[in-house]
Amino acid sequence: MNSLLDRRFLFVTGKGGVGKTTVTAALALKLASQGKRVLCAACNAKERFSTLFHVAPVGSEVVPLAPNIWGVNMEPSVAMAEYGMMILKSRTLYHAVFENRYVRSFFRATPGLYEWAMLGKAWWHTTEQAPDGSNRFDIVLLDAPATGHGLDMLRVPKVIVDIVPPGILRRDADRAWAMFQDSKQSGVVVVTLPEDMPVNETIELLGSLEGELKLPVERIIVNSMLPPLFSQEERNELIKPLDLDHGDPGHAAVAAGARRSHRERVQAQSLARLGDLRVPRIYLPHLFEGAESLDALRELSRRL
Ligand SMILES: Nc1ncnc2c1ncn2[C@@H]1O[C@H](COP(=O)(O)OP(=O)(O)O)[C@@H](O)[C@H]1O
Ligand SMILES: [Mg+2]
Repeated sequence: MNSLLDRRFLFVTGKGGVGKTTVTAALALKLASQGKRVLCAACNAKERFSTLFHVAPVGSEVVPLAPNIWGVNMEPSVAMAEYGMMILKSRTLYHAVFENRYVRSFFRATPGLYEWAMLGKAWWHTTEQAPDGSNRFDIVLLDAPATGHGLDMLRVPKVIVDIVPPGILRRDADRAWAMFQDSKQSGVVVVTLPEDMPVNETIELLGSLEGELKLPVERIIVNSMLPPLFSQEERNELIKPLDLDHGDPGHAAVAAGARRSHRERVQAQSLARLGDLRVPRIYLPHLFEGAESLDALRELSRRL
């Protein structure tokens, strides 16, 4: 994890429901405990930072979540408006341009613009300065959309860099893309579960990130690991058909054991498949009491 201390931007993605938001929050706690000022940015999500950190709902303003941790829930149209104001520097001009209904429908119809509004804003926060000239945040953690949408989001700056003529949009996309490609400054964190489908998606995602986009993948975080209860021999025994009838009191226990041993088998196979990838992995335990409390997040952050 020490290498992460020097990063300015991490893009956290993975299949829906694998624990992206949980991992983002745990990472934030870890980095904050090491003295980093961390911004957690969510993408127009039914955000959960407020529940996890016990604060009021997080909207499109940056708010404190915990010591050294801030949060924002980026809303594309608000982010576009902020961007417009930054470029046009005049409210009147801004209203004339951005509030114009033709311009608005153009924005809605332009693929990638809303994605860029959020990714560009998250990146822009890495450039923001405090009054004393230091960086306002040491690192921005983007709790990004799930796999396919996350990839689409990352494709946008590259398209802008490749086809948009020089100008402000292009200048920012150039700078953001340079940062995203620099493994010393940023990286993608792929969250997954030790199960078939999430591992399939992880393998595919890595192919696109490293092959097509040439972006550094910082870590694979394998979340919700089960502690194995059974040895390989025991699993082989448990896979055999039950030799007990349903009325037998042992039946339910053996059936539960068989289900658990099946999950352990899938976990072992999934880990073996992830082992073929050349990306460092971190394993986080499944917390049987749930991962919705600050204590649970602290437990996960200790394991990072
Ligand atoms: N290690 C874990 N142990 C137990 N529950 C977890 C763990 N990680 C995540 N969860 C739970 O799984 C659900 C999905 O997690 P979440 O972080 O919201 O995923 P995502 O952001 O990828 O959709 C949540 O209810 C969360 O509390
Ligand atoms: Mg989430």
